[in-house]
Amino acid sequence: MKSFYLTTAIDYVNGSPHIGHAYEKVLTDVIARFRRLMGDEVFFLIGTDEHGQKVQMGARKRGIPAQQFVDNTAAEFRALYDRLGVSYDDFIRTTEERHQRVVREILQRLHDQGEIYRAEYRGFYSTRQEQFLQEKDRLPDGSWPEIFGEVTELVESNYFFKLRAYQDWLIDYLRTHEDFIFPRFRQKQVLEFLKEPLNDLCISRPRERLEWGIPLPFDQDFVTYVWFDALVNYVSAVWSEGAPRADRWPADFHVIGKDILVPPHAVYWPIMLHAAGIAPPKSLLVHGWWLLKGGQKMSKSTGAAVDPLDLVDRFGVDAFRYFLIREMNVGQDSEFSVELFLSRYNSDLANDLGNLVNRALNMAGRYSAGVVPAPEVLEEPERELQALWSRTRDEAISLCEGFQFHAALERTLTFIKAINRYVEQRAPWKLAKSSEPADQVLLRTALATMTEALRLGVTLLAPVIPGTTAKVNAALGHTPALKWSDELQWGTSLTGAKLQPGLVLFPRPETAKPPAV
Ligand code: ME8
Ligand code: MG
Repeated sequence: MKSFYLTTAIDYVNGSPHIGHAYEKVLTDVIARFRRLMGDEVFFLIGTDEHGQKVQMGARKRGIPAQQFVDNTAAEFRALYDRLGVSYDDFIRTTEERHQRVVREILQRLHDQGEIYRAEYRGFYSTRQEQFLQEKDRLPDGSWPEIFGEVTELVESNYFFKLRAYQDWLIDYLRTHEDFIFPRFRQKQVLEFLKEPLNDLCISRPRERLEWGIPLPFDQDFVTYVWFDALVNYVSAVWSEGAPRADRWPADFHVIGKDILVPPHAVYWPIMLHAAGIAPPKSLLVHGWWLLKGGQKMSKSTGAAVDPLDLVDRFGVDAFRYFLIREMNVGQDSEFSVELFLSRYNSDLANDLGNLVNRALNMAGRYSAGVVPAPEVLEEPERELQALWSRTRDEAISLCEGFQFHAALERTLTFIKAINRYVEQRAPWKLAKSSEPADQVLLRTALATMTEALRLGVTLLAPVIPGTTAKVNAALGHTPALKWSDELQWGTSLTGAKLQPGLVLFPRPETAKPPAV
């Protein structure tokens, strides 16, 4: 059986990770967790991009050997992703032999097929983006856009890959695979880019200028251009005997940021694969940028960034994950600010969700000795809540399938608020004071209904805040099923469950220690 194969970009290890990197891995993790709950067998790859000019410069600046530098920073990235609960199945580093071997194999194959030739390169290079630039990349006033950082002119003998020969194939491929890139408008941008003739791709750097790379198998005086090396990670991690494993490849999604779509992922990568006789990935999911207030992109290279660990230490992993996914409409940009973070934390997590969980557990403790009673009647308030649940679940799933996670969260929180309203309406504290048997029936029904609704609501949040879902399930005395098809049905599985007396999930920052989620 073929796995649902998901990848993220592999990060340059030239500095510390920031919110942009954290976001991409958390977003992909949400997709991975969602697919697993939907019943897919998932294979989820992340990793680090460790060669190239930018990394070599980072090491020299610190005065340490390149290998030591990448070992340190790669460990820092990996520790962050572990801390964020990113459920990857494999972590690939481009300095690993298992990767370098496949890069050499593909280069040798293309060389043997006559796809690679030697010529003089003359042109401009952006180290920040590790990218060769063209005249059309200049701004109208002749300068280079800020994203490229410092731009240098190169004149040197190099090896080239015959990219142009595949331009028509790629155009045709994009026209016949309309869903290759999400969001759709990005696919149009690629076709727009392909209206101009492509240049062949310079795939080498002379070793005397750049040592930190994979030597070309057919000429040891050169190392491989870092993008030609890095892109191969998606297949080298699943390689077996001359080809990517059929139970993994083609990848279902490469998740990447908008700055590395054109040309690396949308042009170089499908053409490299096609020329090497390998099928292209099924699709690219392109997310936008986290911007600082005022619209500046966060960047390792410029040092303008927010450290994700600060927020995680203060508010917990789940609060951080929730914020990233709730605030970003996948594909667009979003501004980051601590005020916005706090306002989400207080309103959605501490107030709506956290309070409800704690109150529900308290009430069940007080009015039914901490054991979930069986529901006994189904009146209008119960019927309404159950109907809202069915709609919420179906909409949330279909929104997740279309990567509209922010909207799925919004619907789920609306349901959580409706549980709060249901509790207000039934007012268990009043029913508990009554000795009428009919009121006791309603009390038991209300406690059963609110705990079941709560179980369902937090289950729907599991891909985004898995730690919280697990804590609430534990407090409800409930062992969840592995798949949503069983877990998302309104039922009575909680009847008789022994509940914890209370649970503070998201303490108010000014009054409490950070939670240990
Ligand atoms: O591009 N907001 O690595 P990288 C959102 N090594 N996403 C952001 C971001 C921001 N402010 N800043 C960066 C590379 N990213 C290459 C990839 S893949 C074979 C090689 C995203 O460390 C960026 O768009 O510069 C990219 O997807 C990822 O973080 C790694 O960026
Ligand atoms: Mg970058």
